[in-house]
Amino acid sequence: MSEELRLEDLAGVGPVTTKKLNDAGIHNMMDLIVRGPVEIAELTGMDADTASKIVEKAREQLVEGGLIMKEFVSARDLLKRREQIGKITTSTECLDQLFDGGVETQALTEVYGEFGCGKTQFCHTMCVNVQRSKEEGGLEGGVLYIDTENTFRPERIVTIAQAQGLDPEKILDNITVARAYNSAHQMLILEEAGTLIKESNIKLIVADSAVGLFRSEYLGRGTLATRQQKLNRFVHTLVRLAETYNCAAIATNQVMSSPDTFFGDPTRPIGGNVVAHTSTYRIYFKKSGKKRVARMVDSPHHPEQEVIFALGEAGVIDPDSETKTKKATKVTKKVAKKPESKTVSETPESKTVSETPESKTVSETPDIDSESD
Ligand SMILES: Nc1ncnc2c1ncn2[C@@H]1O[C@H](COP(=O)(O)OP(=O)(O)OP(=O)(O)O)[C@@H](O)[C@H]1O
Ligand SMILES: [Mg+2]
Repeated sequence: MSEELRLEDLAGVGPVTTKKLNDAGIHNMMDLIVRGPVEIAELTGMDADTASKIVEKAREQLVEGGLIMKEFVSARDLLKRREQIGKITTSTECLDQLFDGGVETQALTEVYGEFGCGKTQFCHTMCVNVQRSKEEGGLEGGVLYIDTENTFRPERIVTIAQAQGLDPEKILDNITVARAYNSAHQMLILEEAGTLIKESNIKLIVADSAVGLFRSEYLGRGTLATRQQKLNRFVHTLVRLAETYNCAAIATNQVMSSPDTFFGDPTRPIGGNVVAHTSTYRIYFKKSGKKRVARMVDSPHHPEQEVIFALGEAGVIDPDSETKTKKATKVTKKVAKKPESKTVSETPESKTVSETPESKTVSETPDIDSESD
């Protein structure tokens, strides 16, 4: 951690306050900014005024040092900051097209969909891709993987890395896995992540799944408000970390069926609008036979479109790449004939794909989420 970020260097912050802050998991000025005055006061027991002053001082010092942006910025400065946005390739043509180049830093990308649709496979693939060189579409950075469902598999990382011709040992070394046992622990991991992100050059934070633990712990109507509040804090912290440290954040989310939907897709992500409002990009994964469909649902600047992808040894893959390797000689003509078939929205079959009924959607008590928006 660079010297200028030390808590001790803040005017008015003596050893006692530093210790209090350290005990509460605040180790540097960035941590102060990420948590904010309300939380600092809550955590340390100091009064709200003092907490505000400390956070404000940290903010001023970081702005002076050019480490964070001022509140009022010119559009030109904003553009400059946006020019620092990195993109991580998905290592597929189809999903890169959907993402307009790859998964962006300084943003939260939510991937939601029913079980087995490939959310975890996508996360694993991105853990490898972010480590690629910049020429190859990576960011030469590490990963913080918050695993809440015990589905992180280093073996999968090894096969994906091997399939892409990368050294699995090196790839594994750059992934820090944090197994979250409950929602409070999940939150704590994120709150403590600042130093790790900086020191290990983390360029991708994965929360797989972001919502699951909150949902299982806060069941029933009575706890809905608390659950959404806590979830809100988690996703906001995730976004602030992504913005502060210029890294990408991916949060996965399952879907539940909403029986009140008569037209269109009768599924929606659990976690309601808390995650939806906070994410910059939202991608919906859906099963379509052996293939998968990805749709860009919500984006400030991407067109709403769908692409078909597949799952294979190499993680998420282009839909025809498996066939290509398996029957290389036989399918050459077919593949050459219809290259655009990957973009579903542009083909007539797209309707059929997007309207496939969700037979296996995780069905959950609808009343619990019905007030979550
Ligand atoms: N080595 C592999 N090769 C090909 N496909 C694989 C491989 N490993 C897993 N898959 C595919 O990935 C699917 C599981 O996807 P994944 O675990 O990413 O789903 P998910 O969306 O995370 O589901 P959940 O909501 O239950 O967490 C399997 O059904 C299988 O089709
Ligand atoms: Mg999963």
